[in-house]
Order: sequence, then C-alpha cells, then structure tokens
Amino acid sequence: MSVSQPLRELISNCTLPANEARILLAHLLEKHYQLPRSALLSRDDMTLNVAAQEEWQSLISRRVIGEPIAYILGKKGFHNIELLVGPGVLIPRPETELLVDIALAEIAKLNKPTKILDLGTGSGAIALSIASASPLASVVATDQSAEALVTAQQNAKLLNLTKQVQFLQGNWYEALIQQSQFDVIVSNPPYIADQDPHLTQGDLRFEPSSALTDYGSGLSCLQAIISDADRFLQPGGLIAVEHGFDQSESVINLMKIAGLVDVQAHFDLAGHCRAASGRKLKNPII
Ligand SMILES: C[S@@+](CC[C@H](N)C(=O)[O-])C[C@H]1O[C@@H](n2cnc3c(N)ncnc32)[C@H](O)[C@@H]1O
Repeated sequence: MSVSQPLRELISNCTLPANEARILLAHLLEKHYQLPRSALLSRDDMTLNVAAQEEWQSLISRRVIGEPIAYILGKKGFHNIELLVGPGVLIPRPETELLVDIALAEIAKLNKPTKILDLGTGSGAIALSIASASPLASVVATDQSAEALVTAQQNAKLLNLTKQVQFLQGNWYEALIQQSQFDVIVSNPPYIADQDPHLTQGDLRFEPSSALTDYGSGLSCLQAIISDADRFLQPGGLIAVEHGFDQSESVINLMKIAGLVDVQAHFDLAGHCRAASGRKLKNPII
C-alpha cells in the first residue's frame, strides 16, 4: 500500500503513462487541497491524505480499464471553453473545432447579428463555442437525447450563455418549433458505420452509441441533414458538416445533389479532410 508515498513516487510507480498519472493527480490536488497543477513539481514531496489516496486508487482503476480521462475528470477543453461531460454525451474532439472556425469566419464576413443552427449539439460544444466567441451569434442547438441536452444546458449556464443559445429536443430539423431560416447550419452528426470495428475500441466503447453511429452505412444522418438544409437556410446561407476521414467525396456529392453551391472540402490541423460546406443559392430559381 502506498499511503505515505510522496507525489513524485505516486507518478513514477503508477501503472499509467506518466502524463496521464499527472493529469489525474493534478485533478485530485485541486479537488482535495485547492492546489494548482504546478504543485506536482513545487510540492512533489507532499503525501496525500487517506481520502485523496483512496480516490487516487479508484481513478487509476477506472483509467486502467480504458475509461476516457474526460469522463473521469468530468470535463473537457474545446476551442476556447471548458465543458462538463459525462457518459451521456460525446467527448468533444479537436477536429470538430473546424466547424466552429468555419461558422466564426462566416459571422465575421456577414458582420451582423447571425442566426446559427447546431444540429446534434451533445455537450453544446459547437453552439457554446460559437456563442462564447461571437456576441453577434444567436444559436439554436438541438439534440434527440434528453440526457445530452441536460448537460448542454448546464454548460450554457456555467458559461453564462443561456440568453444566446436556445436548446430544443427532437429528430434533426423536427426539433424546431417554428419555421426559421438560418444564416449558418453546423452539424457533427453520428457518421460511423454500424459494423466499424472502432466502435468497440478505445474511448468509443464508453461513449453513447447513438452519438457515434447512424446504425447504417455512416451516411444516413449526413444525408438527412444535407438534403433538408435548403428549407432552413436563408438565401446564400451556409451549411457545414463534419464527416469521417473517408467520407469527403460522398458528402460533397450529397451537397451537390441537394442543389447547394460553392461546395468545399475543409481540412483539419492534421491535414485530414474532415468537413464539407455548401451554400443555398442567393437567388433561387423559382
Ligand atoms: C457526434 S455527436 C456530436 C456532439 C457535439 N455536437 C460534438 O461535436 O461534440 C452527435 C450528436 O447527435 C445526436 N443525434 C443523434 N441522432 C440524432 C437525431 N436523429 N436527431 C438529433 N440529434 C441526434 C446525438 O445524441 C449526439 O449528441
């Protein structure tokens, strides 16, 4: 039993990689002692009290079986905000920040109050990042999952964004209570095919399957969102969706079939094509 081990030995003797051990220990130092992460170095001879020591063992056991660090800590950084996350919501991924940046560039271009729709908001990651970064954005964020919407609303409260972001429950556009037209639609829908082996590996094993897979080919949610976008976009309005690394061609085709113009592929920081955007015609032919 390692009750009296100093912090440096807790890290060096831990079965987890040192970077993960440091993250978990920093979390305990903040929770039990209100100490900053720098205490891992400045007070590396400190020992944990019994309660913190017991929690340390429990955190290690959870991580050893593969539970994602974000669920263990109950939070995740995304774009310029921090979000509460739990097993009922997808853990926001860095590649999804691409959609936030696309929306923010459009708001900057329009330079006027901008109506945004985020379909399948999960923790509220995309909707709240956009609202937090731009006072010009007013956002409607939807999800089919009541559990996800509870977390998203908690996040909106903590970030003081409840006036700027409205949450609605329902199946894609059916959640909208009035026929609105938006300047920008963004969505990171489930796009993993139901037979994809990744669903049974790593972090994905712990995340809600309804946030990951469409239980089909991987393209059905993207198709539903893209094919109806025209009805919910202002003339000239923009839709941007995230997709899998090998779905770019199919999603671009779906956008062209839907009659969208200025269709573009977007690359994440790692150079992977992970999003597509298109516009409703400015002067639709009637
Ligand atoms: C990949 S997660 C994205 C979550 C969040 N936008 C993000 O990027 O972190 C997909 C989200 O779509 C929601 N969803 C799945 N099917 C839906 C449907 N038919 N209508 C509305 N939302 C749906 C899931 O509950 C989940 O929150």
